Amino acid sequence: MKFAPPRGMRDFYPEDLRRRNALFDAWRNAALKYGFEEYDAPVVETEELLIRKGGEEIVNQIYSFADKSGRRLALRPEMTPSLARIVIDRQKMLTLPLKWFSIPQCFRYERMTKGRKREHYQWNLDIVGEEGLLAEVEVLGAAITALQSLGLTHQHFQVRIGSRAILADLYRSLGLTADKFMAVCLVLDKMEKIPPEVTHQMLTDEGFSDAEIQKVLSLMSIKTIADVEAQLGGATENTRDVNELLALMKASGLAEYIVYDISIIRGLSYYTGIVFEAFDTNRKFRAIFGGGRYDNLLSSLGGESLPCVGLGFGDVVVQELLADLGKFQDDSQTLDFAVGFMTENERPFAIQTATLLRNRDYQVSLSLKSERAKKFFNQANRSGAHYAIYLGPDEAAQQLVGIKDLRKGEQKHLPLNDLKNETFA
Ligand code: HAM
Repeated sequence: MKFAPPRGMRDFYPEDLRRRNALFDAWRNAALKYGFEEYDAPVVETEELLIRKGGEEIVNQIYSFADKSGRRLALRPEMTPSLARIVIDRQKMLTLPLKWFSIPQCFRYERMTKGRKREHYQWNLDIVGEEGLLAEVEVLGAAITALQSLGLTHQHFQVRIGSRAILADLYRSLGLTADKFMAVCLVLDKMEKIPPEVTHQMLTDEGFSDAEIQKVLSLMSIKTIADVEAQLGGATENTRDVNELLALMKASGLAEYIVYDISIIRGLSYYTGIVFEAFDTNRKFRAIFGGGRYDNLLSSLGGESLPCVGLGFGDVVVQELLADLGKFQDDSQTLDFAVGFMTENERPFAIQTATLLRNRDYQVSLSLKSERAKKFFNQANRSGAHYAIYLGPDEAAQQLVGIKDLRKGEQKHLPLNDLKNETFA
């Protein structure tokens, strides 16, 4: 019998986890730099919290089950409903605006393609209770900062900004009724990934005539906010918002990271205003992160209405991109000291040495058995240790510690007691 992880789920061996931790550090440091606080919630939620009507792909991908008492539960496919739930629970007590982040593992029964797994870790950054555009700017600034700290610049990725509100204005300008707008958004969001005849069929299924379909699809050839304004007969509050966002990103020094793109619509129904997705410049990979403004989710889940902005940034696509660009940082193990000993007689001395160094907060790997010098030094070199200490009968008798700097190849002996004060670079 041979077991493998379920399809689409990953094991993390230590070298994989070092890489994942480096990404989590970049996320966490960027979030803290922008003044976000970390929160968490259970990976299992009530199924009802996660389900929305309206044909979103994510809802069909939920892993759900009944527990032993027959409660309908599910593995979260995303964090946003859990965030909404915990905010609603303390809505009267929390001081707004909230700037919160989290790194949840999320589960979706996805069709397996590049960049998509059935579990992924997703950095979530959300601002709750702020209607001003600086909320969008701060969330985007933190996400861009994280990517920069991984060695990526505007030459490697770009954030594309769209607006559900602008799309709704354009849609109305075509003389179409609002009731099917959300369905149209979900079809247009998928457009790039499906053949044109399927898009056409999906819109026909929603009840649109061929002429109406042509009009809806023609909106996707709009290139700039000026084009939008021409179509709408002038500037609107929503076109001004996008222009202001672009100006604020410029003030943050991030103008070259941002571009308006009407085709950014997002596949989740709760977004209400500005939406965005980041892509690698060559468009080889799926979205690196995506998010937007969602002002009605809390009220739709029974809370008071609060404006929200946020994004989700998965661990899969960015790792594919970093690998493709050869931008992975050194992921070898780091260790300050390896300590080994020749015979069982030196074991207590080796333990004393390791303990003393650990008390000084060094990372120390102590051999578990006596071993020959050659074997010990080979292993010490492989472990990435900076210093190797190998203890034989002479050292134990004289309470002397032989320390080899594996990077420089230099060796010296020190009395055990001197280890308490010796500085190690
Ligand atoms: P989403 O676009 O569904 O948004 O996911 C956000 C990001 O998570 C994607 O851009 C991608 O990086 C990653 N991701 C999603 N699904 C997978 C998958 N199956 N495998 C690997 N990576 C994946 C949301 O989930 C929103 N709740 C984000 C949000 C937070 N909006 C406001 N606040």
